[in-house]
Amino acid sequence: MLDGKKVLFSGMQSTGNLTLGNYLGALKNWVSLTDEYECFYCVVDEHSITVRQDPAVLRKRARALLILYIAAGIDPEKACLYYQSHVPAHAELAWILDCYTYMGEMSRMTQFKDKSAKHADNINVGLFAYPVLMASDILLYQTDIVPVGIDQLQHLEICRDIALRFNNIYGNVFTIPEAYVGKVGAKIMSLQDPSKKMSKSDENPNASIYLMDDKDTIIRKFKRAVTDSEAHIAYSDSQPGVKNLIDIYSACTGRTSDDIVKEFDGRGYGELKEAAGECVAGLLSPIQVRCAELTKEKDYIDGIIKRNAEKASYTAEKTLRKVQHKIGFPDRIR
Ligand code: TRP
Repeated sequence: MLDGKKVLFSGMQSTGNLTLGNYLGALKNWVSLTDEYECFYCVVDEHSITVRQDPAVLRKRARALLILYIAAGIDPEKACLYYQSHVPAHAELAWILDCYTYMGEMSRMTQFKDKSAKHADNINVGLFAYPVLMASDILLYQTDIVPVGIDQLQHLEICRDIALRFNNIYGNVFTIPEAYVGKVGAKIMSLQDPSKKMSKSDENPNASIYLMDDKDTIIRKFKRAVTDSEAHIAYSDSQPGVKNLIDIYSACTGRTSDDIVKEFDGRGYGELKEAAGECVAGLLSPIQVRCAELTKEKDYIDGIIKRNAEKASYTAEKTLRKVQHKIGFPDRIR
């Protein structure tokens, strides 16, 4: 609890171009959660260096992501938007928690297995310890709930295990967080292979709608979306491409899948693709305009970055000091 509200924490990496899946599955929900919860939304730049990055690109994209949070509608006075690397407590707690985490449990992480297969020339210790840094992010703020995609549930589970283990030894130091998987738009699939999640690292640019795609590009990608040969619009697992188009349309308009199926009864796939493309373009266009405007407001953005890093540090350090005391590090002399 913070100021009488439950605490919510989530983070996103700034690597790669964010997709419609990131927006509908995460960002859009983040906006609506800011009334009910005390929210911390972090740009997790420290996680990004588990894969080699170009420094200039990393810096630029981190700022663009923070701006995108605001452009998507998150009020930076209400939610704390900040860079992980500006709050040293994250890395400090991660080191401590490394010492309370077992090699065996970490070896089971599927994302580590996937990523080490993909980056076989750079399987570094940070990549292995990634979930512990993520646990630190969450635990520093005494977080109650964590909105995450399904692919991150295993990491959240290990975060809870580490927190419980620590609490069992030292008393109630950490709040045990719960996952929150949003229903709407939780899983937007690739437009080229609807059995795969829409991903910012997909090699086929037609597979993903990027948040900065212009209208023509969006419409074109939807036109090329893979469907099937059943020539019938239904919301069914046996028609994953059509189902994905309906999911996207539904997430953009707030209408139910039943309603959409009725609207398109007897009509062709082309019409559904066009409708989905049009509403996605309509949804993204104001966000793109706002991003461009905010990018020019350097002082305003700098102010947010500075103030929010201070605000986050204040809460994070309270937890860190408590942890350091519990494990027997010498108290600071004031
Ligand atoms: N690992 C998350 C992802 O790739 C990002 C992340 C880092 C995160 N720290 C977090 C998400 C803490 C939620 C809470 O999606």
